[in-house]
Amino acid sequence: MAKKSYDLLFKLLLIGDSGVGKTCILFRFSDDAFNTTFISTIGIDFKIKTIELRGKKIKLQIWDTAGQERFHTITTSYYRGAMGIMLVYDITNSKSFDNIAKWLRNIQEHANEDVEKMILGNKCDMEDKRVITKERGESIARENGIRFLETSAKTNVNIEKAFIDLSESILDKKVDIQEPRPLPEPAPNPGTKCCTN
Ligand code: GTP
Ligand code: MG
Repeated sequence: MAKKSYDLLFKLLLIGDSGVGKTCILFRFSDDAFNTTFISTIGIDFKIKTIELRGKKIKLQIWDTAGQERFHTITTSYYRGAMGIMLVYDITNSKSFDNIAKWLRNIQEHANEDVEKMILGNKCDMEDKRVITKERGESIARENGIRFLETSAKTNVNIEKAFIDLSESILDKKVDIQEPRPLPEPAPNPGTKCCTN
């Protein structure tokens, strides 16, 4: 039998308004490339990338959802299986920031309760077009107890860090669960001569 090429499988999901850069973030992470042409995602897509964290090979299966409302039913059906969700907005688009509350409600409604979340303010290379300050991003994340990073898929800022940080928080939780439990007392063996009064 072929040796399994990874130790753990993490399923991640990218959500957020159409055009914020979800597909570009994933493409930068998986292929270290960037495309300026906007090809809006139809439904759902995914990529695989294996990383190594604390000596463990972790296969990331990353689902990239369409931000367009008409794909809501299909995309929300993928929330349940996700162990980590990246909620992306565009720092040059205030509507995409205002919609964070809506995306958080989608998570609340469709994802597992213990899903790890992260908010990304993407396109931080476009400083001249910025309408959402970094402080506003940080504060909405803090209010919701979620980690936050500003990213640029174009200039490759914090892209790898975002995936590593999210994967690490999933790994931390797994390690907690797998903490060794105290061994149960061995049951007395009725067949032996000791211990019976
Ligand atoms: P949907 O698939 O419709 O949900 O959109 P999406 O969130 O996947 O957006 P996509 O990744 O296709 O990017 C939309 C547009 O934004 C494209 O023209 C990209 O080139 C551009 N873009 C994405 N990320 C960045 C970035 O970090 N900086 C800049 N300047 N442009 C970006
Ligand atoms: Mg897309």
